[in-house]
Amino acid sequence: MSGLFSPVPKERRSELFDREEELAALTRHVSGGAPLVLCLGVRRVGKTSVVKTFLNESGLPNIYLDARSLAALGYTRQGLYRALSDALTRLRGRFADVSEYLGRVRGIRVGPFGVELDWRKRGTSFLSLLERMEEYAESRGTVFVVAIDEAQDLRLLKGLDLVKLLAYSYDNLRRVKFLLTGSEAGLLYGFLKLDERDAPLYGRARDEVRVERFSREKSLEYLAAGFAEAGISPPEEELERAVEIFDGIPGWLALYGYAACRGRRDALDASLEEAVRTALGELRHIASASELYAHVLRAVSMGHARWSAVKRAVEIWTGRHIYDETLRRVLNKLTSMGILAKEGEEYRFLDPIYRRAAERL
Ligand SMILES: Nc1ncnc2c1ncn2[C@@H]1O[C@H](COP(=O)(O)OP(=O)(O)OP(=O)(O)O)[C@@H](O)[C@H]1O
Ligand SMILES: [Mg+2]
Repeated sequence: MSGLFSPVPKERRSELFDREEELAALTRHVSGGAPLVLCLGVRRVGKTSVVKTFLNESGLPNIYLDARSLAALGYTRQGLYRALSDALTRLRGRFADVSEYLGRVRGIRVGPFGVELDWRKRGTSFLSLLERMEEYAESRGTVFVVAIDEAQDLRLLKGLDLVKLLAYSYDNLRRVKFLLTGSEAGLLYGFLKLDERDAPLYGRARDEVRVERFSREKSLEYLAAGFAEAGISPPEEELERAVEIFDGIPGWLALYGYAACRGRRDALDASLEEAVRTALGELRHIASASELYAHVLRAVSMGHARWSAVKRAVEIWTGRHIYDETLRRVLNKLTSMGILAKEGEEYRFLDPIYRRAAERL
């Protein structure tokens, strides 16, 4: 199914509802601003869709890497280079004249079926690849975009200091622009260390585009537009309820719209269940690091919002004393991952679907 409710990241404006401002901001920053642009927002809000649509519509030469793919490919030089060779193969498909420049990078083979990288230590140099892309952009009078989705995951990469590479590119390659997205803003800042003296990127300016959830009105408009496109009209009360439950997160609204378009009578309940399960899967993954995460998440989901209340609940459940330092570490981690937010003295979930999921932990 194509259209506004299709359940994959969007790549075309015709399938992307709204986001005009975000697209305009990306255009502005990438063509004129700092060499580093961050696109931030909570899970399922549409970061990938905004970035992919931007890359597609801008017509700028680019490579797009999803750092999450390293979970399967390996957090190694080899894993990264595998992802990179796919990205370069796609680049060459769209910009045939880039082959000449790629061919000049040591360790890169441009063959009839794709671009291959030699990932060994003395193989392809990422830096020399970026330098050739700078020349390529220069020859076309444009910029070259390196887009990395969920870039905070690059912190797990072994054997390659990408932040150093980024800093070198930042300082020397005027036409290479890094566009990084992250659902886990705290982790992304932690990885880039822009404010840390002695770190390679210290003091560098960056531009930021925040992808926010839809307002109540925008959510209703999105649903109405999607249903009009599909030629169906679910009851108004159902739309209202969906907007309330999914709290303006486009990914969840799309899930509901998709289910309703496929003729499910229980579309709302079914999509809510699917959303909660998706969130639960992710929370379980986080909690696999330590039981404490599950206890803390459950405590906050039950309304124990303050530090002391979380602590008391967790101590009762575990039957042991929890050190302040330990609890602080867990809460800070969940905040930097964009699961919880701290407002004044209270912790709360950024997305009510994750709160529901945490109740089941
Ligand atoms: N503005 C929009 N118009 C139409 N559909 C959208 C829009 N934003 C997001 N979606 C849909 O919501 C889902 C999530 O979007 P996307 O994957 O782009 O979000 P994300 O922020 O990258 O999420 P994640 O944190 O999971 O990577 C996709 O199915 C996408 O099609
Ligand atoms: Mg994404």
